[in-house]
Parts: sequence; structure tokens; C-alpha cells
Amino acid sequence: MKRRAFLKGVAAAGATALVPAGAVGTALTACAPRREAAEGWDFDEVVDRAGTWSIKYGRVTDGEIPMWIADMDFQTDPYVRAALQKRLDRDVLGYTSTPDAFVEAVAAWERQAHGYAPDKEWVGYAPGVITSINQAYLTFTEPGDKIIIQPPVYDHFRLYIERLGRMAVDNPLLFENGRYRMDFEGLEKLFDAKTKALVLCNPHNPIGLLWDRETLVKLAEICERHGVIVISDEIHGDLALYGRTHTPFCSVSEAAARVGLIFAGPTKAFNLAGLSGTAFCIIPDREKREKYLGALRNAKLDEASIPTIEAVLAAYRKDTAWLESLKRYIEGNIARVERFFADNELGIKPLRPEASFLVWLDCRALGLPQDELMDLFRTRAKIIPSNGASYGPGGEGFVRLNIGCPASVLDEALSRIRRALGE
Ligand SMILES: Cc1ncc(COP(=O)(O)O)c(C=O)c1O
Repeated sequence: MKRRAFLKGVAAAGATALVPAGAVGTALTACAPRREAAEGWDFDEVVDRAGTWSIKYGRVTDGEIPMWIADMDFQTDPYVRAALQKRLDRDVLGYTSTPDAFVEAVAAWERQAHGYAPDKEWVGYAPGVITSINQAYLTFTEPGDKIIIQPPVYDHFRLYIERLGRMAVDNPLLFENGRYRMDFEGLEKLFDAKTKALVLCNPHNPIGLLWDRETLVKLAEICERHGVIVISDEIHGDLALYGRTHTPFCSVSEAAARVGLIFAGPTKAFNLAGLSGTAFCIIPDREKREKYLGALRNAKLDEASIPTIEAVLAAYRKDTAWLESLKRYIEGNIARVERFFADNELGIKPLRPEASFLVWLDCRALGLPQDELMDLFRTRAKIIPSNGASYGPGGEGFVRLNIGCPASVLDEALSRIRRALGE
């Protein structure tokens, strides 16, 4: 009831253009919640996702708490919901072109959020981050070519490299003294005539690391020397925590701008994962950009849907009050997890993420084979985390816990872990 009243307030507040001046090509600007409402985001509210075809909840069979796939259980950003509602109130959802406002909003957001100022011509619509990365494999590599990934890493990189008949080559991260870093020595040994691309996860899922400028500069230099492009997945970049900043790959050096292609979108930070196809690319190098955008056009993957356009314009606004509140809430949840494992000696160590709402739990001290570890969480604790082993070498003995949920749900999950491990 409270929520309905709030949304009515949103509609009554009328339209306010928050994207940069001149960025909104039509009258359909995002409509903004009133300022006073901005103080009251209720991330504590347990939102009922039943009947929404949620993939996360589809896996629940016996009252488990689902803490795996990377969407959050909070209400989607109310500015975006308001913009979508306003658009749906128009009578016609006809064929629509992607307005210039789309790339202008993305370029302005990169400047505002990450201090990166790409030319507008470098920015384009991209049909979802993974679909677009897959399209990059098809555009810049041939079947049988090698593509380097850095496990433990987001499993869909390997999955689609292999589905598309390319070969995933591992350059595992090094984990020393509780901190991950890239293995440049190992990387130098991997290149041969078949190696055409490296997929960078920036920030790195599942370990939550924000790569620093120095690392990215070095990576760009090595990849350029070996004639390899860098496909940088930056979908978690808007969720840099603790006041830190995300570093867009192509911003770090001229070499990075020559070899890099960035793919990102607002779907993680603003909780819009179900608006599939909502993403953008930034490709500074003209030849690569023309080749890539041409391939998207030929596959008819170059047209943004109405919800995507409205969502991008509404999410990438100047007012970041909602996003900042969300990040503080996530930091609070991380603190709960850290306190819990510090207070209870269970043999599990959380690695503090520097970005996003995914916590990498080091369970190696339990000494369990991976299937027993998963069974402990799923059958005994009745929570569903992501299986660390699914992220490739280095993931065994770990699980990834999605803590993008109300604190009360997180507390219940943690007490279930304590009970299960106490048994
Ligand atoms: C690193 C990373 N890239 C891409 C995606 C999915 O992006 P999209 O839904 O736009 O394909 C995810 C989702 O969890 C992710 O963690």
C-alpha cells in the first residue's frame, strides 16, 4: 500500500529531464520521484517476486533462499520504473529508432560516474552484454581460434566461446595473501598465431575486484604487442563500493583505446536484468568500431527496444541519490557477512568485494569436495549460492553469495549456515 502511494507520488511529480541538457530527443523524458521520496528508499522491504518468471526463484524447490544469479531482490530503480510506466501510457509502441539521446546519455554517464570522456561516435547501442560479446567473437575471430579468459571468472565467457566453436584458454588469476592479481608471466606464454582475443572482466565477477589503472595499462601493452583485442565486460562498473572508482579499460592508455572494446549497461546497478538487450558498447578504434557495428547491423541486432531506450535515459541521470543509497545498503550487507564470519568460526572466509553485490566465500578450510560443499549449502542450510567451481580453475572450494537482498533475508541465510555447519 505504502509502495502504491509512493508510485502515485512519482506519477504526480511530473516529468523532469535529468539526463544531460540536450540529451533527450523526444518529449518522453524520465519522470523523477520527488526529492523527499528520495530519502526513503526502502531496501529493507521484502518484495514478493512470485509469478514474475524470475529465474532466480525458479530454482527454489524446498523453501531455499536463492542467492545465486546476479539480480537483486530490491525494487528496481523507481526512476526507471516511472519512465517505463509513463511510456506505456502512450498509445502506440511502434517501430522506434535509437535516438541520439541514447549515446549522449551513455557518454555523459561515463564522464560523470567514471571520469572517462569517450567521444560520442565511439558509443553505440549493444544488444545485451553477453550477446554483444558473443557477436565480438564472431566478428573478430574464426572457429578454432583461441580466446583468453582469466578464471575464476563469469561462466558465460567460457560457455559461449565454446558454443561458438572457439577455444577458451585459461590465464588463471593468482591468489596470494587474500588478494587476487593477474598472472602476466603466465599470460605471455599463452599467445600463438591462433590467439585473437582476451576477455577482461572489469570489475571482476565473481571476486568483486576493481582492476587498477596500472594493471590495465600493462594488460593493454601486452595484448597490443601480440595483436590481440581486449573485450572488456564492465557491467558491474557502476557498483564500485566504498567510494572507490571503476576504471574503464579504454581510458587507461592509447594502446588500450586501440585494442579495447567496452561492453556495459545499467542492468546490474539499477536492477533491470529482465530488460534483456539493454546495453551499450564503446569502441574508440574506428576500424574495429565500423567492423563491429556493421556486424550488428547485418545480424539485425542494432535496434534498441522502447523499454531499453527509456531505461537507459532514465538510469543515466545526474541524480545518483538512489544508486548511492543502494551502494551504502550493499556495504551494510557486506559488513553483516563479515561480522558473522568473524564472530562464528565456521571455516569460511568472505573476500570483501570492491564492487557489486556478490561475495566470494572461501570455504576451502572445510576440506569438502565441491559437490558436498554445494550440498551443505543447498540441502542442509537451504540456501542456493553459485557454485565456485562453475567459474573455472581456482573456483573449487569457493561459493559466490548474492547479498543483493533485504538485511532480514541475509540474516536468515547466515543463521541457516550457522545451523547447518553446527550439525
Ligand atoms: C560479468 C557479467 N557480464 C554479463 C552479465 C550478463 O549481462 P547481460 O544480461 O547483459 O547479457 C553478467 C550477469 O551476471 C555478468 O556478471
